[in-house]
Amino acid sequence: MTDIAQLEQTFLSDIAAAQDEAALEAVRVAALGRNGSITALLKTLGGMTPDERRVQGPAINGLKDRVSAALAARRSALKDAALDARLNTETVDVTLPLRETPGEAGRVHPISQVMDELTAIFADMGFAVAEGPDIETDDYNFTKLNFPEGHPARDMHDTFYFPPKPDPRSEPGAGGSRMLLRTHTSPVQIRTMLKQKPPIRVIIPGRTYRSDSDQTHTPMFHQVEGLVIDKSAHLGHLKWILEEFCKAFFEVDRVKMRFRPSYFPFTEPSLEVDIQCKRDKGEVRFGEGDDWMEILGCGMVHPNVLRNCGLDPDEVQGFAWGLGIDRIAMLKYGMPDLRPFFEADVRWLNHYGFRPLDFPTLAGGLSN
Ligand code: DAH
Repeated sequence: MTDIAQLEQTFLSDIAAAQDEAALEAVRVAALGRNGSITALLKTLGGMTPDERRVQGPAINGLKDRVSAALAARRSALKDAALDARLNTETVDVTLPLRETPGEAGRVHPISQVMDELTAIFADMGFAVAEGPDIETDDYNFTKLNFPEGHPARDMHDTFYFPPKPDPRSEPGAGGSRMLLRTHTSPVQIRTMLKQKPPIRVIIPGRTYRSDSDQTHTPMFHQVEGLVIDKSAHLGHLKWILEEFCKAFFEVDRVKMRFRPSYFPFTEPSLEVDIQCKRDKGEVRFGEGDDWMEILGCGMVHPNVLRNCGLDPDEVQGFAWGLGIDRIAMLKYGMPDLRPFFEADVRWLNHYGFRPLDFPTLAGGLSN
């Protein structure tokens, strides 16, 4: 066997035997490094006669090419093997829960959470969501809802009014173009009935405003209105809906409710609803106890309101309710003071807020 063939065999078997990149690099240095055997052979070409070189040149260069190719092939095989080994040992368990990053990820405000919760509950019962503007006309907020001219809610002390617009078409006192911050979500009842033919089944969550401020009242707060209009909707349906809502929302199996007669201009009869609760050292629990807590107002939509929206009270009827969102959020999640809800204190939000991407669903357990 020639020297060249001998060398080739040795290098190729060393390359094949190299178990890692360091061993392979040692073979490369021995063959092709500055003092390597093949490098030395290449240097001998300079001292040969042209005839010798014609024979030896291709042989030595061929050796160099084949060894180089073998080195490259082995290097990539070793890389693949290393990757396979890593993939086999470093398994990633994709079923593990996400690592919590408190604070960094941001929190969902309890009001947003509760709005999502109640939307999920009412959506399950077939309700759509309707919305209206925060800046409302006196007409939709009061007049079309059958508020009489001198009703106390129309007082400047209760309602935030914008300066009156001079409008030659409106009669004195009619206030047709006097804008205000809506004092309840009820004007969206009007907007919905003016826009949409019965059967109507909507909830209306949103911001509302009143000139009020203490531990449980803020000038801006939230309500969710409900409205059902069709040919035969009655108070029995309303009771069932509210009961199912309270059970689902407070996550209890049973909840006793008490319906008391009341007065609202836009409903007749009007009722206020209390739910059974137990007060224990400032804490309130639902589904037990023999105390009561008022949570909402409701009633059968007044015939005048139907007429004001172009509906015939002899043809259609329905019921409505209005519920304070902030209040039920405080009750469900044990927050004693309403004011920090709107003070944008990140510490409060980190404490009372909800995890993002954890949407409330009925199937998933509303509040997890
Ligand atoms: N709008 C009333 C309020 O803010 C709440 C209310 C009572 C709404 C009875 C209704 C209802 O739809 O039928 O005090």
